[in-house]
Amino acid sequence: MSTVRVGVIGVGWAGRQHLAAYDALPGAQVVGLAGLEEPVRTALAVQYGVERHVARWEDLLEFDELDAVSVAVPTFLHAPIAIAALQRGLHVLSEKPMARNASEAESMVQAARAAGRVLDVGFNHRQRGDIQKLKDVIDAGRLGTPYYAKAWWLRRSGIPGRGSWFTNAELAGGGPLVDIGVHVLDYSLFLLGNPTVTAVSASTYDLLASAGFGFNPDATKTSVAGATGFDVEDLATVFMRLQDGGTLLVEASWAAHRTHGDQFGITLYGSKGGAELIVENYAPSGSLRVFTDDDGVPAETRLTAEPGGGHKVVVEQFLAKIRAGRWHEHDGTATVHLARIVDACYRSAAEQREVRLTG
Ligand SMILES: NC(=O)c1ccc[n+]([C@@H]2O[C@H](COP(=O)([O-])OP(=O)(O)OC[C@H]3O[C@@H](n4cnc5c(N)ncnc54)[C@H](O)[C@@H]3O)[C@@H](O)[C@H]2O)c1
Repeated sequence: MSTVRVGVIGVGWAGRQHLAAYDALPGAQVVGLAGLEEPVRTALAVQYGVERHVARWEDLLEFDELDAVSVAVPTFLHAPIAIAALQRGLHVLSEKPMARNASEAESMVQAARAAGRVLDVGFNHRQRGDIQKLKDVIDAGRLGTPYYAKAWWLRRSGIPGRGSWFTNAELAGGGPLVDIGVHVLDYSLFLLGNPTVTAVSASTYDLLASAGFGFNPDATKTSVAGATGFDVEDLATVFMRLQDGGTLLVEASWAAHRTHGDQFGITLYGSKGGAELIVENYAPSGSLRVFTDDDGVPAETRLTAEPGGGHKVVVEQFLAKIRAGRWHEHDGTATVHLARIVDACYRSAAEQREVRLTG
């Protein structure tokens, strides 16, 4: 097995997950790091035995020995970095969201097709053990046909720092909907068997953030010159129509008058049973229950799941796609629809009407 030589761009929370995953997997070697924080870069380079590190992503792409890069930087940089890397013949693993909007995401796919290289997007939460267990339950037919799901990721005070890139629409593409809501959308559609979303009706709010409520004082996200305020939503709620006749509701908040902490999950109702998964405060394994009808007697089963792999599985699958050699099959098409759905949600909220998705 030949070694895949990788550059990791971004040394914040996400970049460190990629670095740890490559380090833990056989057949991959991180040969370069990029990130603006010199002390962090130096410490990570020492910890993981990475020989070279630079501040700017442009300089990392000049390294001759690279086969692939991980892109774990603010979202406005995903498309420019991915496209430049693909044009240099590198395989790309981008963090979520794929890009700020569908137009950027589509440009990334075009660049992957033109280069004939892998473009992958890291959705680590669908790799959780509890989500995978729930998928097994659904695929085994225990719920019959799921026709209604509501899924959420809600925080009481989890705005990732005023003036960080996260709270600037131009840099992030939006607020909690495009940040944590896109994970919810990804795992929900995965669990439902990837139905096409045909229409969305969304509302977004910024009442709490604009009143100064909900900022996480411990957030350490990168500040970017020019990003000083908050011009995204603090809560988004979406009603989605699915092509198979089903309905999916999604809620995402960074700030809301609700119980303390951070919670995500999903409730599904099917023709034969229902299920509920609730994950509190990033617990490695959530509370998973399945509700069925046992000859007229309501039955409830609690399932336990192993934590699952998260970023390690994301990186492992990226490396496997590179090794398998059928690179044209992994051009980012599998995730670009999420960007189209998010775009439609923001449009729906802005225009206060249902927006239909086509194609
Ligand atoms: N999958 C997940 O669960 C998850 C969690 C958090 C963040 N993310 C995603 O990861 C990405 C990064 O988020 P984060 O929380 O790590 O952000 P962060 O602000 O903590 O870190 C961003 C990193 O990008 C670097 N950077 C910025 N401009 C750069 C440039 N010009 N050249 C090189 N490096 C540059 C910064 O120096 C920093 O190291 C975002 O797209 C975010 O949505 C994903």
